[in-house]
Amino acid sequence: MTAGLKAIVLVGGFGTRLRPITYHTPKHLIPIAGKPVLYHCFDALPKAVTEINLACGYMVEEHSRYIREHPYRIPVKVITEEKPLLTGGAMLNASEGVSGEFVLMNGDVICGLDGDEMLEYHRRKKAYGTMFLVEQQDVTTYGVAGMDAEDRIEEFVEKPAPEDAPSHWINAGMSVWNADVINAVPAGTPISFEREIMPKLLTKPVYGFKSKTWWEDVGTPERVLHAQRLIFDNLPQKQRETHVHLPGAKAAMPVCVGGGCSAEGSRIGPYVTLGNGVKIGKGSIIEDSIIMDGAEIGEDSIVVRSIVGDKTIIPNRSRIEGKCIAREPERY
Ligand code: GTP
Repeated sequence: MTAGLKAIVLVGGFGTRLRPITYHTPKHLIPIAGKPVLYHCFDALPKAVTEINLACGYMVEEHSRYIREHPYRIPVKVITEEKPLLTGGAMLNASEGVSGEFVLMNGDVICGLDGDEMLEYHRRKKAYGTMFLVEQQDVTTYGVAGMDAEDRIEEFVEKPAPEDAPSHWINAGMSVWNADVINAVPAGTPISFEREIMPKLLTKPVYGFKSKTWWEDVGTPERVLHAQRLIFDNLPQKQRETHVHLPGAKAAMPVCVGGGCSAEGSRIGPYVTLGNGVKIGKGSIIEDSIIMDGAEIGEDSIVVRSIVGDKTIIPNRSRIEGKCIAREPERY
């Protein structure tokens, strides 16, 4: 059953917690270490996946353009929602061509998971569904699974109060399902997979795939920057030490630099991504940050633990610390 496995990847959220960046760039296209969040997600999918259905609603043209201009190694089909259908409705809407079993993934998950191991586990358990789980101390902003001794999920609670959490194992945003699950979703209705569908599936053999791998979801600015540190720290040593072409600048690795950047007389890194065509003024220091395409940082400025949106201009002698900054939005 390895041929023709499909993945449905959800990218229709507004990313409100990442505004103002997400007024211009969907969170899935924020660049980290040379590629957008979305392509880091794709890399975690099982190798048996031969096609991706991208469930898209917000900034469809931006997603489509990126995929057109930077084709992924397997085909990606953009499937549009007229209105946000939430995670369950979006899964149904993007289920074209799904049969047998399929992978469901949130397009904002950064992790070291080997999707093949999870698929193999799912098949060995003869499961109806298998959910990738990671352990977190504070589970109150996630979906939490309660399991029996065999890791069969008996309970699933979305964003529980601490006293109601059945465990510390949270939904890490990827799962494998029998295609029959699609029939559990009413057509054309916004419906949450985690809140309304998942709990009803637990009469069937749904298992947790507990993993100790590195993981983050890029829901907030802090989590985006944490994800960047994780990605850099887990790059193969050789890639981490790759020479960065930034004439006249001091680069403290790890740093990733796009094409056409200039940064003479500045200090960049560690843990920095510069998009394409970024300009950094003389005497400026950039650390633990993401500076997106076409942004300009003036002279003698400091940018630390921050995300600067595309084409955003930061004046000379600015101090940007722990901020998420973007140019004036054209749309609200
Ligand atoms: P916030 O507005 O900051 O909460 O972000 P979000 O809207 O992306 O929500 P959340 O992080 O909970 O979403 C998890 C995943 O589901 C992300 O990959 C979203 O893009 C995706 N998602 C959320 N709602 C929808 C939807 O209505 N349609 C589709 N296609 N995807 C969705």
